[in-house]
Amino acid sequence: MVSPIKTVAVLGGSGNLGPFIVQELVAAGFAVTGVTREASTNSTPKFPDGLPVKSVDYGSLDALKMAFDGQDAVVSIVGAPGIGAQKLAVDAALAAGVKRFIPSEFGINTRKVRGTPIGKIVAGKIDVVDYLQEKAKKNPSFTWTGLSTGLFFDVALKIGAAGINLKDKTATVIDSGNEKWQASQRSHIGKAVAAILHHPEETANKYLGTASFNLSQNELIDLVEELTGVKLTVTHASSADVQKAGEEKLAQGDFRAFLDFLRAHNHADGAGNALTGGANELIGLPYEDLREVVKGLLPSSTGDL
Ligand SMILES: NC(=O)c1ccc[n+]([C@@H]2O[C@H](COP(=O)([O-])OP(=O)(O)OC[C@H]3O[C@@H](n4cnc5c(N)ncnc54)[C@H](OP(=O)(O)O)[C@@H]3O)[C@@H](O)[C@H]2O)c1
Repeated sequence: MVSPIKTVAVLGGSGNLGPFIVQELVAAGFAVTGVTREASTNSTPKFPDGLPVKSVDYGSLDALKMAFDGQDAVVSIVGAPGIGAQKLAVDAALAAGVKRFIPSEFGINTRKVRGTPIGKIVAGKIDVVDYLQEKAKKNPSFTWTGLSTGLFFDVALKIGAAGINLKDKTATVIDSGNEKWQASQRSHIGKAVAAILHHPEETANKYLGTASFNLSQNELIDLVEELTGVKLTVTHASSADVQKAGEEKLAQGDFRAFLDFLRAHNHADGAGNALTGGANELIGLPYEDLREVVKGLLPSSTGDL
């Protein structure tokens, strides 16, 4: 029987995703404490007014343990440079009697890509989840939940990472464009993390997925064209060529290969990486309406595309 979670420490809550999770945790009634690096150069931490924030040396087990004392859960939202540092945070959480650790995943399902080219790039994340599994096995009162979310849809649509460049009015379609892929708005991810912590029993020691929706490239292009009245110029690429371009970059030590691998991972015909079941089904997280979300994210005038 896993007891209810009331207090939550958040690591890396001041970045791109963090504020959305902090906001939903606070709204869901958790007592949230922000934890930020002593070395942080983030001059305008984006924590809500009045939220307790502790500045901690992430290299010190004792300092991390002190920050985690009295916390039921630790949610880590650290960015890429902090992925490895999470192992010491796991040790500290365990020493402080924390019951649930949510590591910084929030992207592709890293459990599925071990040993693949994209898996090499997210090897640090895979390693942390392995570490959590090992610790939880030895310490039954310590549990973890991993959460894959697919692409941050609200960001991706605006910056062109969803395959559509709104500024240039162009789109690139990989393979047939019919493969469904997993995508989440950052606000949805915040709600998912809060719901997981409200369901500690069902979500203990599980790697779950969530999504605002699954969508295909063709669906998105049709929707954007319909909502804006603008015809996009569509070019086509094969997932094999995109994957090869990624492999060439990776061989040169160029980690921008990740974006090529991600496009093949999401869009290749038969990739099978859309969400099925996951947290949406397990704990009743509703999907969002693609049309309404896209409508809300598009610029109000086509002149601003
Ligand atoms: N699915 C997607 O489309 C997508 C897109 C982007 C990111 N992600 C994933 O989402 C998670 C969060 O990403 P993000 O973009 O929100 O991260 P971010 O903004 O780059 O960084 C989040 C926070 O991490 C902390 N941090 C930075 N360097 C650190 C270090 N060396 N050690 C420890 N902490 C450090 C900082 O907090 P303080 O300064 O307060 O310490 C920073 O504000 C990551 O797992 C990332 O891979 C997914």
